[in-house]
Amino acid sequence: MVNSAKPAQIRKPVKSRKPAAAAKAAKRAVAAKAAETPSVAKPDHSITLTDNATGKTYTYKVLDGTLGPKVIDIRSLYADTGMFTYDPAFTSTASCESKITYIDGDEGVLLYRGYPIEELVESCDFLDTCFLLMNGELPTQTEKKKFNYDITHHSMVHEQLAQFYRGFRRDAHPMAVMCGVVGGLAAFYHDSTDITDARQREVASYRLIAKMPTIAAWAYKYSVGQPFIYPTNSMKFAENFLHMMFAVPAERYDVSPVFAKAMDRILILHADHEQNASTSTVRLAGSSDANPFACIAAGIASLWGPAHGGANEAVLKMLGEIGDKKNIPGFIQQVKDKKAKLMGFGHRVYKNFDPRAKVMARTCKEVLDELGRHDDPMLALAVELEKIALDDKYFVDRKLYPNVDFYSGIIFRAMGIPVSMFTPLFAVARTVGWVAQWNEMISDPGKRIGRPRQLYNGSIVRNIPGRK
Ligand code: CMC
Repeated sequence: MVNSAKPAQIRKPVKSRKPAAAAKAAKRAVAAKAAETPSVAKPDHSITLTDNATGKTYTYKVLDGTLGPKVIDIRSLYADTGMFTYDPAFTSTASCESKITYIDGDEGVLLYRGYPIEELVESCDFLDTCFLLMNGELPTQTEKKKFNYDITHHSMVHEQLAQFYRGFRRDAHPMAVMCGVVGGLAAFYHDSTDITDARQREVASYRLIAKMPTIAAWAYKYSVGQPFIYPTNSMKFAENFLHMMFAVPAERYDVSPVFAKAMDRILILHADHEQNASTSTVRLAGSSDANPFACIAAGIASLWGPAHGGANEAVLKMLGEIGDKKNIPGFIQQVKDKKAKLMGFGHRVYKNFDPRAKVMARTCKEVLDELGRHDDPMLALAVELEKIALDDKYFVDRKLYPNVDFYSGIIFRAMGIPVSMFTPLFAVARTVGWVAQWNEMISDPGKRIGRPRQLYNGSIVRNIPGRK
């Protein structure tokens, strides 16, 4: 029943553009945070903004990182001017300060903690890379031994979690199962959820990195109705994952060393990618001090989309639909007419070759050679499509190059990995990036809850018809 005793107070639309009390409070908080900010602000570099309506000017410091574009520190902008910035999809906004991953999209450079991705895939394995991303340095021999032991000994999941799978339909997408099961971890591991305790954060991170291959492999096993295969501690990370995917209890299964090496490399290539959609999702979810397992489940949900981690699945679908080299020109025309997208091409940050795509193309060839399938028709179709697109004005003008997902689907398919498992595999790799970025955010003493603002363009205040 509607309470008609007293009409609710309806706020008048704000006419005054003066900073509100909240904005003043924000200014105090911003000043406190700015004092802690370790970024370098050169005293002589600032930017002055002029409000052409009032003639007032406002000056903002320019911060300089170690690499990459400088940033304008506009944290006090609202307090100063009563205005927000408008930047949907964050194309010009640095949402945080980070020391983990650097991308130069124009030059096609990707660095993890300063090391080029091409060197890491040649000299390190995935667990070295995990240690590096989490701790800032590559492990010493002793650290490596301990880290490998710790990850290996967290790879089993609570036995009751196995029951959890049975609640899903067998035909569920493995990403749907992963969202549920990873979120469900929050209900099992209560001893690692005090996020103010660095040791508990570390244990939660180890659990997530270690259990993700088991969870993903079981999502697959469940979908095909095969028994779950438990982790094997004597195997390395990538080998163990492939074993859990493909072994059955009835017979021995040896993982091909070429496949294990390729998988390890693919995991390294996908391990982190600075503030992409899923990582930003994890950071935003975690900024409220939410449960770490729930935050990673949020990251998995974001990764699932075809514009992000779902792209390699979409590439194979697209290649299947094109079907034959003779159909490429017609398909390219559809892309130009905006009736289709060339999946596996283009990137928000890379306006040059994605350095991961180069390693991926090489790995693809190695895997197909191992299988004696260097004349694989899908690879031939992809190579031809890439060649035609790279020569075409539409793609050249828009700086659209192959991204990491253009070739990964072909490798996975050759390894016998079903299409629906492509994105779960990406999630297995990206978990370390998510936890490293989450840890970096939580351990920042100046952390505050993330809260974007908006340009409200809806109805102004009005009254419900018939009310007095
Ligand atoms: N095929 C055809 N046209 C494209 C494509 C594409 N794959 N990507 C961008 N364009 C066009 C787009 O239509 C626009 O054209 P116009 O200027 O005429 O309007 C122009 O290029 C600029 O594109 P945009 O949409 O502003 O670029 P964005 O930065 O918002 O999008 C992207 C980046 C990755 C979502 C997009 O390139 C895309 O959808 N690519 C295909 C999906 C894909 O491969 N995603 C995997 C990304 S790598 C893995 C990961 O890190 O998640």
